[in-house]
Order: sequence, then C-alpha cells, then structure tokens
Amino acid sequence: MSLTLRQVPDPVLRAVCKPVDSFGPALRALADGMLAAMYDATGRGLAAPQVGVVKRLFVMDETWKDGAPSPQVFVNPVVTWADERREACEEGCLSIPDTPCLVTRPVAIRLAWQDLDGTAQEAAFDGFAARCIQHERDHLDGILCTDYSA
Ligand code: NI
Repeated sequence: MSLTLRQVPDPVLRAVCKPVDSFGPALRALADGMLAAMYDATGRGLAAPQVGVVKRLFVMDETWKDGAPSPQVFVNPVVTWADERREACEEGCLSIPDTPCLVTRPVAIRLAWQDLDGTAQEAAFDGFAARCIQHERDHLDGILCTDYSA
C-alpha cells in the first residue's frame, strides 16, 4: 500500500478520527503502509489522518534511526494516566514541514490501546516515547503541535 503524506492545510488533518472496529488484513496493510511512509519521510511517528485515513491508529518507531527498528502500532489509543510533571520540548511534524514548535506535555503517561489483533494492551511510557505518543494521539482528534503555541 503506497500512501501519500498529507500536509497542512489539508482539512483531513483537522478531522476527529473514528474508532477502528475491524481487525484483519486490511488494517495490517494500512499499518504497514503507514510505517513505510514514516520511514520514507524519516519520521519516528505517524498517525492515520496524516495519510488521509480518518481512523484512530498511529505507528511509532523510536529506534530505527539508531539502526535497530522497533515498529509499534497503536489502535484506539487512550491515555489513562498522565504525570503531573511537565516539560517543554521542541517537536516536529511530518505534516508541517520545517516548523519546529515548543510544546509542554506530561513527562510520562500510561496508554491503553489495541494491537493489530484487537487485543487490549496497556503500558507506561516516558521520555521520547511519551512525547511521541501524545503528539500522535493528538492527531486523532485533529490537534496539531502548532496549536499549542498559537
Ligand atoms: Ni505530527
């Protein structure tokens, strides 16, 4: 599946995405296509609306740039806990070229999600993963990192 990256001001980036309710080969193909598009664009996270798909999933790979790929797919993600400690950090977005923006976010979160088989998962994240997950999850509600500095 070859997917095209959407960039601002494409209105699909402002859509509130719909829950994924069908798990199977088509969803797996979409996730694989999103990972390929993310690697092509040299990103570490990509949400479905960024390829024009209005569904609640995103992909992330924290480590591939260090030569050790670790692709992850998060379907129907929900932040179930957020650390009170917050930190400002510069973020980039593949849909907003050359526009780094400073965003203050919780330094750690817990996330509940489903994997590609529809199995429920939950885990804690901090560091880069926590920031990336919050950025990508925002995309599913049409929120862009530039909104925080607006
Ligand atoms: Ni983004």
